[in-house]
Amino acid sequence: MLLLGIESTAHTFGIGIVNEKGEVLTNVKDSFTSPDAGMIPDKVAEHHETVAEPVLQKALQEINLSLKDVNYIAYSAGPGIDPCLWKGYHFAKKWAKEAKKPLVGVNHCCAHLSIGKVWNKLKDPIYLYVSGVNTQIIFEEAGKYHVIGETLDIGLGNMLDKFARLLQLGFPGGPKIEELAKKGKYIELPYIVKGMDVSFSGILTKIQQLYQKKISKEDLCHSVQETCFAMLAEAVERAMAHTGKKELLLVGGVGANKRFCEMLGLMCQERKAKFYNVPLDLAGDQGAMIAWEGYLRKKQYGDIGVKPHWRADEV
Ligand code: ATP
Ligand code: FE2
Repeated sequence: MLLLGIESTAHTFGIGIVNEKGEVLTNVKDSFTSPDAGMIPDKVAEHHETVAEPVLQKALQEINLSLKDVNYIAYSAGPGIDPCLWKGYHFAKKWAKEAKKPLVGVNHCCAHLSIGKVWNKLKDPIYLYVSGVNTQIIFEEAGKYHVIGETLDIGLGNMLDKFARLLQLGFPGGPKIEELAKKGKYIELPYIVKGMDVSFSGILTKIQQLYQKKISKEDLCHSVQETCFAMLAEAVERAMAHTGKKELLLVGGVGANKRFCEMLGLMCQERKAKFYNVPLDLAGDQGAMIAWEGYLRKKQYGDIGVKPHWRADEV
């Protein structure tokens, strides 16, 4: 069985195809980037409109298939940016009609979790999902996801992107912050963990002020990483102690950060647990994760329109 997945919730338009074992056969994407600004919803939707057909063609050509060869077309129904979601949904409907294939609308957050789980062949991990909008600690019970910790304000990725914009590093900011951080030294920042929840907005305000005071970009990048990653390591360690789980899986775009993985790996080692992440090409947004989530949900969901505020724990 083959499933084609379409991702379009935010910056990335992607098409992936997976089989019933969760093996990724092709995964092509084109992401909106900007040298100076952030994500402007209409600009991003325009980007998706332009790249949709070429991305589809490239994905199919890579494995020498046509749309007719896939059994289902899955799309990211939400959560996400309204105009971007509608763009993806429009192409999903169009292609499904052309090829006469059933649609499966899936949850983007669950897709991040399930691709990480199948790739690592895990049974029952604690998930740390850290992306643009989301920062959540999640576990599964009786076929449902439960969020036991999360950011009380903004997602870590968005916070890093906002900070990068101030430093004029362009979008996305995470990878550039990671580079600069290597050359910086630590300065103290607010550290806000409440049980298993965290908060980043106070840190953003503080680093904005320090930047005005001419503290170097490198020191700020280094300190923001050390502080935020340590906060999450503390919160997720508490969640592991609380649930007794021995596997930690990091997913989402911020999971591409090597220092973050290093800190979580050390934490797990100290408590005799195992740390897992996903390869770079499956960490951020892409179509393969949507295809695999589509495989898991094909009996549950069909054409469900778009759901801009759909949480993982509502699936
Ligand atoms: P969500 O999944 O919550 O809807 P999203 O789809 O925008 O959000 P992803 O593609 O999973 O998120 O992640 C994008 C985020 O990852 C951006 O904020 C980006 O700055 C961040 N990011 C990417 N690479 C790195 C890195 N090396 N270090 C830190 N952050 C990174
Ligand atoms: Fe995402």
